[in-house]
Amino acid sequence: STVPAATRRLDPDAAGLAEAAALLLSGELVAFPTETVYGLGADATDPAAVARIFAAKERPRFNPLISHLPDLAAALAEGVFDAPARRLAEAFWPGPLTLVVPAQPASRVSDLARAGLPSVALRVPAHPLAQALLSQVGRPVAAPSANRSGRVSPTRAAHVLDDLEGRIAAVLDGSDTPVGVESTVVACLGGPPRLLRPGGITRAALRAILGHDPAAPEAVDADRPAGPGMLASHYAPRARVRLDATRIEPGEAVLLFGTSRPEGHAQACAALNLSPVGNAEEAAARLFGALRDLDASGAATIAVVPIPSDGLGEAIRDRLARAAAPR
Ligand code: TXA
Ligand code: MG
Repeated sequence: STVPAATRRLDPDAAGLAEAAALLLSGELVAFPTETVYGLGADATDPAAVARIFAAKERPRFNPLISHLPDLAAALAEGVFDAPARRLAEAFWPGPLTLVVPAQPASRVSDLARAGLPSVALRVPAHPLAQALLSQVGRPVAAPSANRSGRVSPTRAAHVLDDLEGRIAAVLDGSDTPVGVESTVVACLGGPPRLLRPGGITRAALRAILGHDPAAPEAVDADRPAGPGMLASHYAPRARVRLDATRIEPGEAVLLFGTSRPEGHAQACAALNLSPVGNAEEAAARLFGALRDLDASGAATIAVVPIPSDGLGEAIRDRLARAAAPR
């Protein structure tokens, strides 16, 4: 099939879900809400469909994709779970956790979705629309965040269309995603579980189940990062991002958190507060939308006040550090 000229907006009802499932099963790309961010879905078992994801996003093909499933039973058909993987899945699925595990020899996930790796990334999302869609499709659905590669992840259907209008068949509109940052990615490959990407499940929550802190990622060579979340520059708005700002320069936009106000904030050309009460969950839910909105103000620089790293603050700081990385 060819790239569709117009992207359809599907209602979050039975008809919209049936259409979304039919499009996926015919090899088309459909963006859909998860509790973290919108995913750009394709039938993970169909290499031609998966190839369309890389084309639509302009994503490098060495970056493997997450395959989404409706439940643990379906995930067990695709991956080999050791004891820690099993405990984490039982504790946090459905939810914002991705497990990287050895692929089952009989896994249907295509090599392209796995970027040729012997491992596979699996996730069981909790969002009711994602759950319903995955049950109807009955196959693993590969879905990276539904943004152009390197850009800010989408937390509402309008963000998806801003980046991918005309490049994908449809978006299932499920309004704002509640968590707002991507899933936590943990690799369980025989050794100690490794935290590859902080996200919607906090380090403290992982520790409570594992009985210890997850290990750091293994060093990877620069040509082959463990995944796109590991690339230095990612989640980037058009504007430059300046972190831990304690003073605002005239003309900068400012991203606030809590009640502290940096010097000069009154001269900012635009200001948004991620959470006036200083709540990390609220801040995570607003983060990507706020970056898009401040970008739209036209400011050359977005200055971000210091954000504490506890709870979801670790994932927020990770995304902001990548948004601020040299491009
Ligand atoms: O919340 C999320 O995870 C969203 C929603 C749509 O589910 N998806 C998402 O996908 O963020 P993406 O493609 O933007 O990020 C995929 C991440 C990479 O950063 C990488 O760390 C990891 O998944 N990954 C996938 N396959 C892997 C593998 N075989 N080995 C190591 N890491 C892998
Ligand atoms: Mg992404």
